[in-house]
Amino acid sequence: MNPLNHVAIIMDGNGRWGLKYKNSRNAGHKEGLKTVERIIKETIKNKIKFLTLYAFSTENWRRPKKEINYLFNLLENFLTNRLEEIHKQNIRIKILGYKKFSSKLNNLLNLAEKKTSKNNKLQINLALNYGSKLELINAFKKIKKSKSKINEKNLERYLQTKNLPDPDILIRTGNTKRLSNFLLWQLAYSEIFFEKKLWPVFTEKDYKKIINEYKHIKRNFGKV
Ligand code: IPE
Ligand code: IPE
Ligand code: MG
Repeated sequence: MNPLNHVAIIMDGNGRWGLKYKNSRNAGHKEGLKTVERIIKETIKNKIKFLTLYAFSTENWRRPKKEINYLFNLLENFLTNRLEEIHKQNIRIKILGYKKFSSKLNNLLNLAEKKTSKNNKLQINLALNYGSKLELINAFKKIKKSKSKINEKNLERYLQTKNLPDPDILIRTGNTKRLSNFLLWQLAYSEIFFEKKLWPVFTEKDYKKIINEYKHIKRNFGKV
């Protein structure tokens, strides 16, 4: 059976769910947050050490301001209300992406990272204003500046995922089969699961099914 250390998720489909059932994309984001909580619990139950959640891409700034504000407000409220509990559960929060938000949110994110930095039950990497192409370009710039050799090891030292194992599994909900600029380097050998369901209705059972399927895949890594 394959060991499972790291699950990455592109949580897609909130907007479509919200429009269909509540006549509002933002209502879909609110509902999607409940799925996040359920999936975190299930991740802990399955003793998985790393969970990386794509919450906002560098391209998502192209969305209407009202939606962007709603998303960041949701996150702000979530962290304000739940950070203590997250900390008590021995969960570590780490942000992937550049913290270029309101000073209130930037401070809150820094606080969450700092407060939980010693926790070791589960590490949640929240990809926020994250884009893989930008991450790679910046990593190459840093290599150049340090005058070190361009090789895998040196590049990975400058990625935002430094010290993280690569994801074993990538899940994308929402019936769309693309990577949308997510972890292009790190997903080189991940097992990819495209899920038809929209994120707000993705359940623990769906998640568990993917985990079980993953465990029995023959992972070759180029070998036979
Ligand atoms: C959530 O899904 C992704 C975020 C940016 C938070 P979407 O908002 O992309 O939902 P759809 O794809 O429009 O349904
Ligand atoms: C990817 O979803 C980003 C997140 C889930 C945060 P999008 O819905 O933004 O992706 P595209 O634009 O459809 O490719
Ligand atoms: Mg989408």
